[in-house]
Amino acid sequence: MLPEHAILFEPLQVRKWTLRNRIVCPPMVTNRDIVGDDGIEWYRRIARGGVALVIVEATRTTKFENGTLNAKNLSRLAEAIKREGAVAAIQLFMAPVDGRNSPDELTKNDIRLSIERFKKAALICKDAGFDGVEPHGAHGFLLNQFFSRRTNHRTDEYGGSLENRMRLGLQIVQTIREAVGDDMLILYRHTPKEYEGYTVDESVEFAKQLEEAGIDILDISPASENAPADLAAPFKQAVQVPVIAVGKMARHARAVEALREKRADLIAIGRGLIADPFWALKTKMGQLDKIIECRYCNEGCYGNLRSGKPIECVQHAELGELLLWG
Ligand SMILES: Cc1cc2nc3c(=O)[nH]c(=O)nc-3n(C[C@H](O)[C@H](O)[C@H](O)COP(=O)(O)O)c2cc1C
Repeated sequence: MLPEHAILFEPLQVRKWTLRNRIVCPPMVTNRDIVGDDGIEWYRRIARGGVALVIVEATRTTKFENGTLNAKNLSRLAEAIKREGAVAAIQLFMAPVDGRNSPDELTKNDIRLSIERFKKAALICKDAGFDGVEPHGAHGFLLNQFFSRRTNHRTDEYGGSLENRMRLGLQIVQTIREAVGDDMLILYRHTPKEYEGYTVDESVEFAKQLEEAGIDILDISPASENAPADLAAPFKQAVQVPVIAVGKMARHARAVEALREKRADLIAIGRGLIADPFWALKTKMGQLDKIIECRYCNEGCYGNLRSGKPIECVQHAELGELLLWG
C-alpha cells in the first residue's frame, strides 16, 4: 500500500460494528432483482472487493408491505454481503401512497402510513440479518421534498417552519429506532441545499436533530455528479456521528484529502465501484495500475439506470469480465 493511502484503511467503530476501513459502497439502483441470483452476486462482488460498508440500493418501502421482499429472501442478500466481511445496510425509499407523491398531496393518514411502512421495512431488514437501514432523504425525492420550502407548502405541523419541515424525517428515524432497538445501525441520506428551498444552516440543524433522534451515520450526498466533497465539511463539524462524503472519490487524492482534512469520516465510491468493485483491495495491495478507472462517461451506469437496463460499466465489455481482477 502507498503510505498516503493508509488513512483509507483505518478501521472505524460504530456501536458494536467495526468497519474494516473508510470505504463505503453508496446505494445505487442496479436494475436487478436484489434477491435474485444476479442481484446477490452483484452485491457479493462489491463486498468481496474490500469495502467496509455496503448500502444496498434505494428500495421502496411498499415492497416489504406486499411481501415482495421478506426476511427469508432478503437474508440471502444480507448473508452474501456479511460473509465477505462488509457491514450490510439497505436504503429505504419512501413510496407514494395511492399515487399521491408530493408533500402537498399526502394526507395526515398517508404520512402515518408512510412512517409505519418504514418501521415495518426496518424490522424485516433486521430479521433478515441486515446491520443497518438508511431512509433516503436526499436527491429531491419525496422524503427530501418535505424538507424544502419549494416543494412543501403544507400548513399543518409537517410544513412551514424548519421544525415542521424536519418533522417527518425525525419521526421516521425515531420510529425505526424504537422498533429496532440499539441493535441496528440507522443511517440517513440528506442532500444539502439541492434546491433553493433550504439553506446549509437548516441542513446542519436537521443533522443535529437527526443525531438526537438516533442516527448512527450521516450520509451527505450532493445531487450533482460533480459536486465536491466539501459539502460534507459543515456536517462533520456539527455532529459526533460519522459522516460519509461522496462524489468522484475513486480519485485517490480526493478521497485521502477528504479524510485527512477531516471533512468526512468515510468516503463512498459509486461509479468507481461499478467500474471496479475491487478498488479497495487493489488500493490496499498497492496495485493501482490494475484498477479499472471510472471515466465518468455515465453510459453504463446512469445511462442504463435511465433506460431500465441492468447497470454495468461499459469498460467491462471492452476488457472482458476476467480482467476485473488479476
Ligand atoms: C446507477 C446509479 C444509481 C444510483 N442509485 C442511487 C440510489 O438508489 N440511492 C441514492 O441515494 N443514490 C443513488 N445514486 C447516487 C450514488 O449513490 C452516488 O451518490 C453518486 O453516484 C456519486 O458518487 P460517485 O461520484 O462516486 O459515482 C446512484 C448513482 C448511480 C450511478
